[in-house]
Amino acid sequence: MLENVERVPGDAILGLIQTFKADDNPNKVDLGVGVYRDENGQTPILESVREAEKTRLAKETTKAYIGSHGDPDFGEAVLKLVFGHNSPILAANRASATQAPGGTGALRLAGDFCRAQFPNASIWLPEPTWPNHIGVFNASGLPIKRYTYVDDDNHLDFAGMLADLKTAPAGDIVLLHASCHNPTGFDLNRDQWQQILDVVRERDVLPMIDFAYQGFGDGLEDDAYGLRLITESCGEALVTQSCSKNFGIYRERTGCLIAVAKNESAMQDVRSQLATVARGNYSNPPAHGAAIVSTILGSHDLRALWQDEVSAMRERIKKLRAAMVDALQPYGLDERFEYIANQRGMFSYTGLSSHQVERLKNDYSIYMVSSGRANIAGLQQDNLDYVASAISDVVEEE
Ligand code: LMR
Repeated sequence: MLENVERVPGDAILGLIQTFKADDNPNKVDLGVGVYRDENGQTPILESVREAEKTRLAKETTKAYIGSHGDPDFGEAVLKLVFGHNSPILAANRASATQAPGGTGALRLAGDFCRAQFPNASIWLPEPTWPNHIGVFNASGLPIKRYTYVDDDNHLDFAGMLADLKTAPAGDIVLLHASCHNPTGFDLNRDQWQQILDVVRERDVLPMIDFAYQGFGDGLEDDAYGLRLITESCGEALVTQSCSKNFGIYRERTGCLIAVAKNESAMQDVRSQLATVARGNYSNPPAHGAAIVSTILGSHDLRALWQDEVSAMRERIKKLRAAMVDALQPYGLDERFEYIANQRGMFSYTGLSSHQVERLKNDYSIYMVSSGRANIAGLQQDNLDYVASAISDVVEEE
């Protein structure tokens, strides 16, 4: 039987990790996979995480299962981080967190849950979106529809987004990126969030909000603005949350699916189903990352240290955005690429074509996703000019 299995190409984003490693050009630049990098190109373990790990090592007494909903301390701490300490949703006990293996695991839980509970529903994804959204929801068997997000000139097409969402039938699910849109870096402003809220209510669709980058855009509170507006006003929502980026614990697979229901009893009903979905997938989530997060968020000092570390990561990316546009100025490209400075989070949709991306890789060992997505955190002060000059070379050909 196995001899008849067809070979398929690997995942395009994860594949870049291997191709980059194998490149022996000393000037190579990795703007591919979405992990934060410091000025030395490293993805560091945060100091707050190291301290939390020490504490856990000293205190941990068992490796027994943690249950399908995961670590309750983690769940409680993340609910407060996502909704805020004074959240009316939390006060009314209408939200439940089910820990999952990373944000991807939370998306899969959400996809499987929606497919089982709402067999006629489709999920609306932005065009473009994180490519693995498509992989995950296909795996759940959830039909996918798309709404416009970016126009031909590589700017946010909010009018197109609204127009498409206004055609969504009641009972469908609409996935929204809370902040730091992956892959474009184009986020909604407060007025636009309000208009999205109006459409979501008018169309009676279920919002699913992907929250993978809290703290990487404008701050831990600001990045939650749209999410809080929608969840507080709509009564029902799903939130897929990730700790990979803001705690830098990518490989610990830590995140959760949050369900917000109209009342506590409905929330408990949903929660019971989510445990069943989790059980059928992986039974129990991994414990270590959640223990790190709950230790940090539960300690006054570690939390303060972590907040400083998140701010430092965010500010570094923001500085690099402005510096990249400055570096493009001598080539007369600063106006064209001005949006790089205004986008948010790690990613920039550069507007470069897949052919140009290919040339950057082949001629300069500069790696980005073929859609033209660049991980800005992969830049360093001393390679900005190298990257700017390479970009100017590949766009000259147009
Ligand atoms: C990315 O978009 O590069 C990250 O979220 C990593 C991944 O799993 O694709």
